[in-house]
Amino acid sequence: MMKAKLILDRDFAIGEIDPRLYGSFIEHLGRAVYGGIYEPGHPTADENGFRRDVIDMVRRLRVPVVRYPGGNFVSGFNWEDSVGPREGRPKRLDLAWFTTETNEVGLHEFARWAREAQSEVMYAVNLGTRGPDAARNIVEYANHPGGSFYSDMRIRNGEKDPLGIRLWCLGNEMDGPWQMGHKTAQEYGRVACEAGKMMKWVDPTIELVACGSSAYDMLTFGGWEYGMLEECYDQIDYVSLHRYYGNRTNRTPDFLARSMDLDDFISTVVSICDAVRGKKHAKKRVHLSFDEWNVWYHSNEQDQEIWKRDKWNRALPLLEDVYNFEDALLVGAMLITFLRHADRVKIACMAQLVNVIAPIMTRNGGGVWAQTIYWPLMHASHFGRGTALRPVVTGPAYDCTDYERVPYVDAAAVAHEDGGLTIFAINRSMDEDALLEGDLRGFGGLKVREHIVLHHDDVKAVNTEEAPENVAPRSGGGAKIEGGRLIAPLGSLSWNVIRLEKA
Ligand code: AHR
Repeated sequence: MMKAKLILDRDFAIGEIDPRLYGSFIEHLGRAVYGGIYEPGHPTADENGFRRDVIDMVRRLRVPVVRYPGGNFVSGFNWEDSVGPREGRPKRLDLAWFTTETNEVGLHEFARWAREAQSEVMYAVNLGTRGPDAARNIVEYANHPGGSFYSDMRIRNGEKDPLGIRLWCLGNEMDGPWQMGHKTAQEYGRVACEAGKMMKWVDPTIELVACGSSAYDMLTFGGWEYGMLEECYDQIDYVSLHRYYGNRTNRTPDFLARSMDLDDFISTVVSICDAVRGKKHAKKRVHLSFDEWNVWYHSNEQDQEIWKRDKWNRALPLLEDVYNFEDALLVGAMLITFLRHADRVKIACMAQLVNVIAPIMTRNGGGVWAQTIYWPLMHASHFGRGTALRPVVTGPAYDCTDYERVPYVDAAAVAHEDGGLTIFAINRSMDEDALLEGDLRGFGGLKVREHIVLHHDDVKAVNTEEAPENVAPRSGGGAKIEGGRLIAPLGSLSWNVIRLEKA
C-alpha cells in the first residue's frame, strides 16, 4: 500500500469559498428544458409544467446559481421572444444547435423554476447578434422596480416585483468561430465595455462576467484575455473560463490527470487578469467564473447522426453523455482543483444540469436518475462550504502522456465555522490502495464523523434508470483519528469525503 502525507493548518487559509462554486447551467439545448425541467403532462409536473421529481434532484444538489439561457444558443436569441403571452411567442430556428426554439419556456417561467429549485438565475445576454441596447433593456425588464417601458412590461406580464437577477454574463464564448457574431478580442472588449457600462447604469448592484476563452487550447488564448480585458477591465467583475475533457484515447491514467491542465489554465488566467490590473494601475481585482466545466465527449458521434436525420426538430436528444465511474473521478479531481483556487475562482457552473452533459437524466414520461458525476458535485456542494485551506500533499506520482509527476493522491480541505473539517481526496491509482496520514495542525481534538467513498470495480460502470445506484457513494471508508493524526485508507480509484468534527 502506498503512503501519502497531508499537512493542514487552520491558519493556512486560501480564502472563503463562494457558494456559487457549486453552480450549474441550463441552456435551451436538447432536452435540458423541454423534457428535462419542463414536461407538462408528466405525472410529477406541477401547475407550471415543471417536473417535481427533477426539482427534488436539483434541490438535493443544493445548486446556488444556474446560468441561463445559453451557451451558444444565447448568441442568436432575442430575449423579447421569451416574454409575454405564450401564444404570441415566435418559433425560431436556433442556428447554434440546429433545432427549433418554441419559446414556451421563457424568462418568467425559468425564474419561477429557479425559485422552486432554490437557485438564483445567472443570466447571459446576447452579444453575438445583438448588442448593448438589448442588454440594457433586459436588465431594466428584469430588475427595475417599475415606472419605465420595460419594467412596466414585466409587471403587465405578471411579475410585479423585480426578478432581482444579480449575475450577468456578457455574451458567450465570443472568441469561438462557431459562435453567431464571433468577434476579435478588441471588438468584443469594446462591446462588453459599452454593454456592461449601460447595464450597470440601469442597476449598479449587478455583477458582470466577461467572456474569456472557450478553451485553454484555443489558438487565441491569452491574447484574447489580455486584449479584451484592456478594453473592459473597469466595467466587469469576472472573466469566464470554459473547459471540457474526454477520454478519447481510453487511457484512464491520462484522463484522470486532466485536472493538471485545469490547474494550469486557472493559474494562467489569474496571471493575465493581474497583468492587466498592473498595466492599468487598477485597485480592483477581477475574479474568475468557471461557468462551463465537465466531461463531454461520449455523445459527440451520436449528435452527428441525430443532425443527419433530424435537423430543426424541437428538443432533440443532443449532448446526452452517459457518464461512467472514471468521469466521476475526474469531476471530483476538478472540484478539488477549484477548491484549491477558491481565492480567485468564485463561480463555477457544471455544464449542464439536466439531460445535456448533465448529472441528472430523465426519460420523457418516465423516471429521473443521478448520473455518476452527480455524487462528487453533491458532496462538494454540501460539505465544501467554509474556508478553503492550503493542503500540503506529498506522496508517489506517475508520468503519463501529457504530464509528469501526477500525484496519485490529491486533496482539498475545507474548514467549517463549527470547528469541523472536510477533506476531499482522490486516489488515481488503478491498482494500489493508499494510506493517507494527516497532520492536522491547530485543529484540536477532532473525530471522524463520516468517511464517504465512491468506487466501482469497473471504471466504465454507469447508472441507468433501471440501475440508478450502480455507481453510488457509501459510508464506512475507515478513516480514523489516532494520536491526533488522521489515518485514512483510500482505495485504488476512489473519491473520498472525510468529514471530521470536534471530539
Ligand atoms: O455546454 C455546451 C456548449 O459548450 C455551450 O453551449 C457552449 O458555450 C460551449 O461550447
